[in-house]
Amino acid sequence: MKILAIETSCDETAAAVVEDGLTVLSSVVASSHEMHEKYGGIVPEVAARKQLECIIPVISEALPGLNFKNVDAIAVTIGPGLIGSLLVGVETAKTIAYVTGKPIIPVNHVLAHMYANFIDSKKIEFPAISLVVSGGHTELYLMKNEKELTWLGGTLDDAAGECFDKAARLLGFGHGGGLAIQNAASQCQMLNAKWPIKLPRPMLDKKNELNFSFSGLKTAILREVNKLKELNQFSENTVLQLSYEVQEAITDVLVKKTIRAAQAFQAKSILLSGGVAANLRLREKLPSAIVPPIELCTDNAVYIAAYAYFRGQKKDWKTITALPDLSVEV
Ligand code: KG4
Ligand code: ZN
Repeated sequence: MKILAIETSCDETAAAVVEDGLTVLSSVVASSHEMHEKYGGIVPEVAARKQLECIIPVISEALPGLNFKNVDAIAVTIGPGLIGSLLVGVETAKTIAYVTGKPIIPVNHVLAHMYANFIDSKKIEFPAISLVVSGGHTELYLMKNEKELTWLGGTLDDAAGECFDKAARLLGFGHGGGLAIQNAASQCQMLNAKWPIKLPRPMLDKKNELNFSFSGLKTAILREVNKLKELNQFSENTVLQLSYEVQEAITDVLVKKTIRAAQAFQAKSILLSGGVAANLRLREKLPSAIVPPIELCTDNAVYIAAYAYFRGQKKDWKTITALPDLSVEV
């Protein structure tokens, strides 16, 4: 079965055609990242306007000639996400379904992230523990098989990616996010750091706790930055050292909780996904984990199609609406 998938939940406009949930026939991603640079964060209205301009060119690049005869169904992200952005993808998908008579498959963006691990027919043994870690979410799931999911825990406040993004802004890397922190941290190791910066590893004390909290860590980073500035020691070196410690603190928490869940449920495999799963240090600290290729960690439409294939349900286009607050607890 060939699925055309559309993803517009945040600031990306993406489309892909995937066969049987495993084989990528095309994938196109357009981002309005640079446009948000000067505002220090994503401006929903700017993102949605850009998506409106990009959606048809992106779909026609993924499906040349908009030849809908070549696909069997349309999958689309209906939430969670930014309402203006979601509406662009959802209304486009509904129009295609109406005009072509093809079925439409609504997709939960966060749950879909983990299906990036299924691409290219990776052999996954069940039960599996799946950590979805992105800009807006940090969630742990138990996967009994390709379809059956149980939510085990998530962040009580900020997501891990949000913490990376906030740290990047505080350290002067603008909208560079976790990738900027990762690059700075790798330079720091070469510098042989001397500044004794130690950040907290929140919520590791309770043994059975599978929830996360990153807002305290965000505040601790702000405190360190202010302290360094007051001491006139906010230099290139200390920025690199702080980047290193930020990455260590976030990845320590993610790794320990994931291993804790894997032990508790006697998991046979561990899956990582979401934008933060692109982090090389996280991947290094969990060498046995199954991880998607880097380009399938951050937002794209390939895993939207994979989710639709493995877990989606065909619906009448009239019943589909954008749901910005769609729950990720299953
Ligand atoms: O999954 P994603 O593209 O969008 C959401 O669904 O949120 O994730 C974006 C997040 C951002 O917070 C970004 O800073 C983070 O993924 N990210 C990384 C890396 N690449 C992207 N975080 C750490 N290390 C990276 N290499
Ligand atoms: Zn995402």
